[in-house]
Amino acid sequence: MRVLGIETSCDETGIAIYDKNNGLLVNKLYSQIKLHKNYGGVVPELASSNHIKKIIPLLKETLSIEGIKSTDIHGIAYTAGPGLIGSLIIGATIGSALAYTWKIPAIPINHLEAHLLTPMLENNKLIFPLVALLVSGGNTQLVLVNGIGKYRIIGKSLDDSVGETYDKIAKLLGLTYPGGSVLSSMAKKGIPGKYNFPLPMINKNYGLNFSFSGLKTYVKNVITYSTNDEQTKANIARSFEDSIIKILLIKSSRALNKTKSNNLVIAGGVSANENIRYSMIKMMKKRGGKIFYAKRELCTDNGAMIAYTGMIKLISGFNSSLNILVWPKWSLEDV
Ligand code: KG4
Repeated sequence: MRVLGIETSCDETGIAIYDKNNGLLVNKLYSQIKLHKNYGGVVPELASSNHIKKIIPLLKETLSIEGIKSTDIHGIAYTAGPGLIGSLIIGATIGSALAYTWKIPAIPINHLEAHLLTPMLENNKLIFPLVALLVSGGNTQLVLVNGIGKYRIIGKSLDDSVGETYDKIAKLLGLTYPGGSVLSSMAKKGIPGKYNFPLPMINKNYGLNFSFSGLKTYVKNVITYSTNDEQTKANIARSFEDSIIKILLIKSSRALNKTKSNNLVIAGGVSANENIRYSMIKMMKKRGGKIFYAKRELCTDNGAMIAYTGMIKLISGFNSSLNILVWPKWSLEDV
């Protein structure tokens, strides 16, 4: 059994094929980073028009690979949300039209659920109940997962997401978009403890919610009034990243205590961050718990996670309809 996955929720066009017995067969990705770089962030209209340009050639490329036949595909999974409406519509329309033509089910997939399940793509069996820390460009959430499809959001950012905060600070430091990984590389050259940045909402009274806009403004002011040399910038990047890590550790640990679980998933683009992974691994080792994460290239948006989640839905008896579905604000709790 094979499922074709289509990802177009933001600025990446991803097409992949997952085979039930042999795992991931193809994983093609076209990133629009170059297109949005000049604007310092994603321009929604440019993102959707570029998906239109790239999706058919990428599909053709995938289906022309030796050993891949359209008749061997049993379902088409597409990202239905959350994401940018114009971008979601492209993948949903192409996926549904193709599924209709091939007389196979079209499966709408929640992008966050796909991120969350990505560690399973490499044969890691998740242990439930678990806490998932979703850290991406669009979302920062703590989710109690009692099984596949059983999600309860127990904490979320009240303002910026972690990825967004990384990207904004990176921009202020003169780094290119998207700044997360470049900022993190810069932080490696920084001297720890040069700045004492705030850790918003870590007090127990705030529970499991996050806030990053205050930290962002604080760091922005420090950048504005600091010298522009490389070492100063690296020191700022280091203290910023250390603050983010402290916040994520405190909140994840609190979520595990509260839910009496000792299993943690970290997923989403920011989970590719080496320092964040290392700190989380260390914390879970100390707690005697288990941590699950995907390999780095599967942390950011891709078609593989959509194809894989589609396969899970298909196996568990998904009922297809002719509706083309997109929900830009689709919550994990409504999956
Ligand atoms: O999951 P993703 O590809 O897109 C969404 O679904 O939102 O996440 C993209 C985000 C960007 O903000 C990017 O800067 C951040 O993930 N990111 C990182 C790293 N790699 C990607 N942030 C920090 N460190 C990294 N190594």
